[in-house]
Amino acid sequence: MKLRLTKLVIFLAALIPLARLGWRALHYGLGANPIEVITHSTGDWTLILILTTLSITPLRRITRQYWLIGVRRMIGLFAFFYGTLHFLTYIWLDKFFDVHEMMKDIAKRRFITVGFSAFVLLIPLALTSTAWSIRRLGGKNWQRLHRLIYLTGILAVVHYTWLVKADLRKPIEYGVVLGILLLYRVGVWFSEKASEKSKPPAIPTPARNPL
Ligand code: HEM
Repeated sequence: MKLRLTKLVIFLAALIPLARLGWRALHYGLGANPIEVITHSTGDWTLILILTTLSITPLRRITRQYWLIGVRRMIGLFAFFYGTLHFLTYIWLDKFFDVHEMMKDIAKRRFITVGFSAFVLLIPLALTSTAWSIRRLGGKNWQRLHRLIYLTGILAVVHYTWLVKADLRKPIEYGVVLGILLLYRVGVWFSEKASEKSKPPAIPTPARNPL
């Protein structure tokens, strides 16, 4: 019951950035460059939600709030949702569905190349986010596939770093958060390896006395 309520609150909260954009557009307009406002807002929220998804595991372990795993999928799917809006803004409002122009841009502008790669990597993760997919792929394979989120996070921060012209403060802030989240994983990996090594060898089953 508590989890369902939390999920509802997170669902509504995740819609706030979109509702805010809609409200601003209807009541005040989006300024001189509405495409830029929509691109920046959707891009920011995609990145924030990717980082939030990545922070669930450490948060869950550190605080021992194990129920948090129950909201990870929804937050990840919202990252994909805002990523799709971000990409749609680009191909629809910026490139007017001119696929040729878009392909040229993806090949030529490096920040578009990495942004596009980050978005493409989110697609298999969104498609396999169901319990059915976990059963089909098997837990281990599913986990391996979903490690792509680390690469997506790195590409997304590189995308942001390469697109800004002067003020690198925001991409650096996002980069630091991502760095901490990735280092945490590396730390856990090393400590698990170390504890595996220090485990005493299993007591061998005594051979049956042949006599
Ligand atoms: C996971 C995927 C992506 C993430 C996390 C992401 C994130 C971002 C962020 C954070 C910004 C800057 C927002 C700001 O200045 O406040 C941005 C801008 C932008 N992104 Fe993305 N992006 C992604 C994918 C894409 C894709 C697929 C495209 C197009 C193919 C794209 C095109 C752009 C453009 C054109 C801008 C604005 C550049 C400018 O203002 O000069 N992004 N993105």
